Amino acid sequence: MTAQIIDGKAIAQKVRDEVAVQVAKRSAAGKPQPTLATVLVGDRPDSAAYVASKGKACAELGMGSISQHLPADASQEQVESLVRQLNADPKVSGILVQLPMPHQINEERVLSLISIEKDVDGFSPLNIGRLAQKGREPLFVPCTPYGCIYLLEQAGVKIEGANAVVLGRSNIVGMPAALLLISRNATVTVCHSRTRDLPAVIRQADILIAAIGKTEMVRGGWIKPGAAVIDVGINSIPVLNPDGTPAISEKTGKPRQKLVGDVNFEEAKEVAGFITPVPGGVGPMTIAMLMRNTLRAAEIQNP
Ligand code: GUN
Repeated sequence: MTAQIIDGKAIAQKVRDEVAVQVAKRSAAGKPQPTLATVLVGDRPDSAAYVASKGKACAELGMGSISQHLPADASQEQVESLVRQLNADPKVSGILVQLPMPHQINEERVLSLISIEKDVDGFSPLNIGRLAQKGREPLFVPCTPYGCIYLLEQAGVKIEGANAVVLGRSNIVGMPAALLLISRNATVTVCHSRTRDLPAVIRQADILIAAIGKTEMVRGGWIKPGAAVIDVGINSIPVLNPDGTPAISEKTGKPRQKLVGDVNFEEAKEVAGFITPVPGGVGPMTIAMLMRNTLRAAEIQNP
């Protein structure tokens, strides 16, 4: 069997197009422009790149963006005071504090300060608490797990009653993904570094969400035939020549790198029913769902 490839790039583009249409409608009706404020503390290049791509997406969809950057040695008080200021600013629809923050910052205290109507990342304890409780609805769902569920739904994968395995229990992806699957009536197992006989547990999964950050860890033989595999991993590895030596880029003279997931795609696609590629699977969905959440925040604040 060869799996159906779930095209995250195309699905994300559809979400972005829908958001852009709604943004234009709001503008034509004279309503305030949805605006995302990002907070970056420190100089991690990956975080800086993520924040820049969020600002770019806002511009492409007709939304506003405000980007705030504090130095790596910023104090707790500086970060908290910035969040309070953004909470109070009527031009700001959504606030995203890029994670991780430097060690001196108490992340939980910062996230708990973000006003719930502006918590477009869905990480405030109130939103996560609601996600974790039966019969309660969060105002916003964290973007990457939301993207994973959206991909499953768009591919026509039945979640209700399915055995779902989530590999990884991070606050950003694994745990909220598990909560979302439970809210959609899947039977969920969360696996992590201390899970015994991981291949045997994963072999039971009708749906696998892999978010462990380990290069191509999940092998084809671990996958239940016909399963839906959502690969959240983004791991950069060297490209090798046929003789096993590192391939060098003609342009830069540096070793070539490529992105791969937490699942061995070539093996898994022969067994799975559905699979997301890396890149072009979950990655583009995160920003698309953030744009959706930011539009929703604007709609809540200025219906
Ligand atoms: N760091 C990695 N992913 C995310 C995300 O989705 N939101 C925030 N705020 N930080 C992140």
